[in-house]
Amino acid sequence: MTVRPLDLNETELASACERLSLGHEAWSADGIMETMQRNGYYFGAFLGAEFVGHAGFTAVADEGYITNVAVLPQFRRNGAATELTKALISKAKELKLSFLTLEVRESNSAAIALYEKHGFLRVGLRKRFYSEPTEDAIIMTLNF
Ligand SMILES: CC(C)(COP(=O)(O)OP(=O)(O)OC[C@H]1O[C@@H](n2cnc3c(N)ncnc32)[C@H](O)[C@@H]1OP(=O)(O)O)[C@@H](O)C(=O)NCCC(=O)NCCS
Repeated sequence: MTVRPLDLNETELASACERLSLGHEAWSADGIMETMQRNGYYFGAFLGAEFVGHAGFTAVADEGYITNVAVLPQFRRNGAATELTKALISKAKELKLSFLTLEVRESNSAAIALYEKHGFLRVGLRKRFYSEPTEDAIIMTLNF
């Protein structure tokens, strides 16, 4: 598996992956592209030429906000998200960010386990942050 920066012409692949993975919470291809052109850093995972998944964060001053990590269902449990998360952490360190942070549905045990494996700690809760279904968000942060 290869992980490399996502190209601007691959944002539709990423958006489609988010629609499959996250439903109405998916970012549009245009939204991802605008973010990449501004302050966003996105990486794609590929098996050969085939898109497997992606992850990204935005950088604001020395703060990093993970927008999403998503892997196509048929490629899960193969380490793609692990490699993508490593790429995010490595880029954040290169940019000398102070931390990476994110919100995750409290029922999303797969994602929470993934982030905990990479050293993210549960630092807070946003009550009723998500809709359809309404759910609290756990805030997880990795400090550098
Ligand atoms: C969460 C997600 C990105 C994980 O992708 P993945 O490529 O399957 O993850 P990996 O194979 O790299 O697994 C890394 C670790 O994550 C955890 N994990 C992944 N899937 C899991 C599952 N179904 N149940 C429990 N833990 C899981 C495990 O700790 C795993 O390590 P292990 O394989 O040594 O047990 C994927 O399930 C996904 O796209 N989900 C939908 C989108 C989403 O929820 N994104 C996060 C939004 S905040």
